[in-house]
Amino acid sequence: MTENTAGTGIPAHIGIIMDGNGRWAQRNRLPRSSGHARGAEVFRRITRHCESIGVKALTVFAFSTENWKRDRSEVESIMNLLRRYLKDAFGFKKDNIRIHFIGERERLAPDIVELMQEIEEFSKENTGLILNVAINYGGRDEIVSVARTLASMAARGELQPEDITEQLFDSMTFTADSPPLDMILRPSGEQRISNFLLWQCAYSEFVYMDTLWPDFTPELLDRAIEEYGRRSRRFGGR
Ligand code: IPE
Ligand code: IPE
Ligand code: MG
Repeated sequence: MTENTAGTGIPAHIGIIMDGNGRWAQRNRLPRSSGHARGAEVFRRITRHCESIGVKALTVFAFSTENWKRDRSEVESIMNLLRRYLKDAFGFKKDNIRIHFIGERERLAPDIVELMQEIEEFSKENTGLILNVAINYGGRDEIVSVARTLASMAARGELQPEDITEQLFDSMTFTADSPPLDMILRPSGEQRISNFLLWQCAYSEFVYMDTLWPDFTPELLDRAIEEYGRRSRRFGGR
């Protein structure tokens, strides 16, 4: 997908907070892990749909820096699911998708980090959809990590405080290779950002939907994009 999405009504970069797996499981009298497994399937379907309609970048929130607060068994089941999906490379090996993992890797198991590196390596020459998967990601954590890098550069005398601009900061975020974040979608009925893409969302359009993520469909994404298309984006102008 190399055509320009400007003017087509299709957001160039969509962020999705994949929320509601636990409630879906509860409603269906299943363990929470089944909700996460079903959510992972939906993620695959939605990613393919984004690619087919010409979205340039998709950033999905899979596990936040705050999600470690959950029971150990739930965290373990999410990590095991992640292992399984990474092993079959999300089923994307044949697709033209460029995969990036965003978030802090230090706290993740070494075998998971290794799989992430392999996937990034095999997909790096791909020219289609950019897929950023946020795992152990926090928006504040990302901002702090950029600030630290800039502070170290300044301490080494590589830049002056006045060299720090929005553009420079932006170029050091985890999503620097993706276009500006046009739209954030949160299913599940919650209407909050939950520490997702705090720097990037300055002028994003927020679309909230009530469907729980495991029940989400490509048709609902189309509806969210229609809603986005009805918004009047002014970026502070008139
Ligand atoms: C989102 O679903 C998945 C993760 C946060 C890992 P939840 O597990 O938050 O589902 P609810 O919000 O409890 O329904
Ligand atoms: C946000 O959902 C994180 C992910 C979807 C991975 P949460 O379920 O963790 O957010 P809160 O707790 O409702 O704010
Ligand atoms: Mg939730």
